[in-house]
Amino acid sequence: MIRVEHLYKSFDERPVLVDVSLEIRDGETLAIIGRSGSGKSVLMKHLIGLLKPDRGRVLVDGVDINAISYEELRRIRRQFGVLFQSGALFDSMNAFENVAFPLRTFTSLSEEEIRRRVQECLELVQLPDVGPKMPDELSGGMKKRVALARAIALEPRYIIYDEPTTGLDPETANAIDELIRDLNHRLNVTGIMVTHDMHSVLSVADRVAFLYQGRMHWVGTIEELHRSDDPTLLAFVKASEYQIGQPIPRSA
Ligand SMILES: Nc1ncnc2c1ncn2[C@@H]1O[C@H](COP(=O)(O)OP(=O)(O)O)[C@@H](O)[C@H]1O
Ligand SMILES: [Mg+2]
Repeated sequence: MIRVEHLYKSFDERPVLVDVSLEIRDGETLAIIGRSGSGKSVLMKHLIGLLKPDRGRVLVDGVDINAISYEELRRIRRQFGVLFQSGALFDSMNAFENVAFPLRTFTSLSEEEIRRRVQECLELVQLPDVGPKMPDELSGGMKKRVALARAIALEPRYIIYDEPTTGLDPETANAIDELIRDLNHRLNVTGIMVTHDMHSVLSVADRVAFLYQGRMHWVGTIEELHRSDDPTLLAFVKASEYQIGQPIPRSA
């Protein structure tokens, strides 16, 4: 379980997160939503200790990740698979080597074990044959999948997806949503999805946390979202071209 307690973060005296508290429960998929620039990625980076809070705490399984040694933090980080917003693969490595990278960096697996694990991960993202391909030979959706294979290579307990569908065409976005849903269930992980894509939220998330003007404005289940009459939340959802209660097709 992850607990964010009264988190404050400013950049150059400009507050980005103000008194943000949040609980991420084991096994759930939580979507962190909000407008572009609302602090979603900043919040996400606090979860893995890439940013330090000005005030407040982040507890991962009860451990305050800003009160431990770098070695201990590294051990905790190993439990996180992260699909970064840019999704960046290493351009100079083929797909196989990209997925093998965390295994070579963090484990002492043999070459044979690495080969097997990489193949397993590529199969999980439904790209069993792309190992030898270089990133520039892959479509946007395929790159995301390979990045996802890399994110799950170390069998994380938590997977963070930062804007997994941004910049993809609707069909590819749907396929990525489906894959995320499938992975979260099959791997029995806790998923944290950062997005402004409501379509993605509704098809993947169990609960939603809405950041607005630096504050955690609303937290609830998808069902509660459908029933909510919070005007700020509704305005956000509406702006995302989704009418509460009736899913509409994802627009291009
Ligand atoms: N390292 C940084 N230094 C200064 N400002 C930052 C930094 N990271 C993020 N910000 C600012 O914090 C705000 C929130 O950014 P971000 O979390 O990336 O938004 P989003 O919700 O789109 O992911 C933005 O105004 C951004 O410019
Ligand atoms: Mg972001």
